[in-house]
Amino acid sequence: MLILGGTAEARTLAAALAQRPDVECVSSLAGRVSRPRLPVGKVRVGGFGGPGGLTEWLRDNHMTALVDATHPYAEGIRGSALAAAPLAGVAYLRLERPGWTAGPGDQWHRVAGYAAAATTMAALGRRVFLTIGRQHLHAFTGLPECWLLARVVEEPGPVPRHVTVLRSRGPYTVGGETAVLREHRIDVLVTKDSGGSLTAPKLAAARALSVPVVMVDRPAPPPELAGQDVVHDVIAALRWVDRLARTGPGSRAGSTRPPPRRHAGGPGSGSTR
Ligand SMILES: NC(=O)c1ccc[n+]([C@@H]2O[C@H](COP(=O)([O-])OP(=O)(O)OC[C@H]3O[C@@H](n4cnc5c(N)ncnc54)[C@H](OP(=O)(O)O)[C@@H]3O)[C@@H](O)[C@H]2O)c1
Repeated sequence: MLILGGTAEARTLAAALAQRPDVECVSSLAGRVSRPRLPVGKVRVGGFGGPGGLTEWLRDNHMTALVDATHPYAEGIRGSALAAAPLAGVAYLRLERPGWTAGPGDQWHRVAGYAAAATTMAALGRRVFLTIGRQHLHAFTGLPECWLLARVVEEPGPVPRHVTVLRSRGPYTVGGETAVLREHRIDVLVTKDSGGSLTAPKLAAARALSVPVVMVDRPAPPPELAGQDVVHDVIAALRWVDRLARTGPGSRAGSTRPPPRRHAGGPGSGSTR
């Protein structure tokens, strides 16, 4: 089985499958981060070269199943996995954690993309805590009236003078996030709807300090995902593996229920990276 990873769910799944003598598993990482958290078991690193390269890799390595447990915003690899699985004749599962939902006291502004997020951000405040990673940072840096505290895992390269880079990697605490918001006098938080508990404390801190949140919505599910096996936590993914082990890779094993929405940081909301 190939697990497309880079998330906590992928690592938890790989660790659980490492205990099973009947499943041989390889985890795949994109290789974007200099010191990645490595999953248990076999790991390969780097892109496959698109859907064609992934199809070839699955065939060459005699895979029978592919679990796409990548981040909800990793659209490129999700599309590759959806295209490659049928071409290589392997069973496909999407493991995607549920998004966050606003609760009492939250002031969330949901937007459909990064450009809309930048406009909404500028309408709401002047001192911004930007937690969308480095890939889309450029969408926010063209508004010099907004001072940005941009939290990223890896160095983003040169940034304008009104942007301060804060390099760090979660998990975070509500106390720590509250201190960041206070210390930098943040008046608006910008985030993706990553879901999970590891980065949710910023939302609790924003709620407590009445800081508005601009929430960039998840990319729409591609049409190819319709009718595919989709689960929303590792337990369900392990059940899928069990069914697959019983019935063989030619059969459908999963569930396609829509993801249950959970309150940010609520019980069972999972992990984020
Ligand atoms: N986007 C986020 O906010 C975010 C947050 C946390 C973790 N991550 C993790 O970081 C990785 C990259 O995310 P992204 O948003 O840059 O992805 P992306 O835009 O979907 O991926 C771009 C390209 O990177 C390669 N790639 C991505 N994930 C891969 C994997 N697990 N194994 C092998 N190659 C992979 C593929 O290259 P080829 O076309 O050459 O195969 C893919 O086409 C993913 O594994 C994701 O789970 C992403």
